[in-house]
Amino acid sequence: MAIQWYPGHMAKAKREVQEKLKLIDVVIEIVDARIPVSSRNPMVDELTANKPRLILLNKSDLADPAVTKEWVHYFEKRNWATLVVDSQRGKGIKQVPEKVRELAKPLLDKFHAKGIHPRALRALILGIPNVGKSTVINRLANKKITKIGDKPGVTKSQQWIKVGKEMELLDTPGILWPKFEDQDVGFRLALTGAIKEEIFDFQETSVFLLRYLTKEYPDRLKERFNLKDLSEDVADLFDEIGKRRGCLVSGGLVDYDKTAEIIFRDFRQGKLGHISLERPKE
Ligand code: G4P
Repeated sequence: MAIQWYPGHMAKAKREVQEKLKLIDVVIEIVDARIPVSSRNPMVDELTANKPRLILLNKSDLADPAVTKEWVHYFEKRNWATLVVDSQRGKGIKQVPEKVRELAKPLLDKFHAKGIHPRALRALILGIPNVGKSTVINRLANKKITKIGDKPGVTKSQQWIKVGKEMELLDTPGILWPKFEDQDVGFRLALTGAIKEEIFDFQETSVFLLRYLTKEYPDRLKERFNLKDLSEDVADLFDEIGKRRGCLVSGGLVDYDKTAEIIFRDFRQGKLGHISLERPKE
């Protein structure tokens, strides 16, 4: 897949996040519940090594609930505080301030030991483009903030947004680029909307999706496209789906571009149901 990852972008994003981290007590890292590992930038672990961190499995409304449970287990086994949220509808968001307080307990204890009335805890939302950072901030703050540009370098003067009395959020989230050296990671990011449609190939992406669905969700695939059996040959699957959806060119041949786009759009519009594109390995 012709998607490029530029080290220059990454270095700049890293510097910007490092600057922001100086001001904050707790990091709230947002990942896509459908692809919790592919939607993380591995640099986050290194960047936030000295800060307490909460992981939000966002867009959980689109993921397979059984697989999301496996992911919670996976992260908790690593002792990472984790919450399952659907920030579009506000589900799970109420628990965020409470978890942040729990994570910042050592700092709060320090204030108490010194006899100081604790100041509001400062949190930074961190994540890759389109993972839901602005939506989470809006939900937590209970108001609309302007969407921040996804380009590193697009910064504006920073302000703190109050979340209740005990927490403040930096209004500009930390934006990190996903790292897709593995091409399957690129496909997962394309399917979940993390990268722009102009830069990926629908056919390749839909082939990846069909192979994955054949293995993990065969019944959904059969049901959606009215297929009796699932051929192991992905070209046959394209032919069958293309014919059923009327994607034909002259001579009765299947239009693969059109078929690929239909498969892709059906997935993006949730017509195949709640699907997770990644499972914990162990
Ligand atoms: P960002 O700041 O990290 O870049 O992401 P943002 O909040 O702008 O969210 C990106 C898209 O994801 C938005 O859709 C938003 O509504 C959607 N989204 C965020 N959280 C959730 C969630 O929990 N569930 C679902 N289903 N969607 C969520 P959009 O504006 O329509 O953009 P797009 O989907 O057309 O790219």
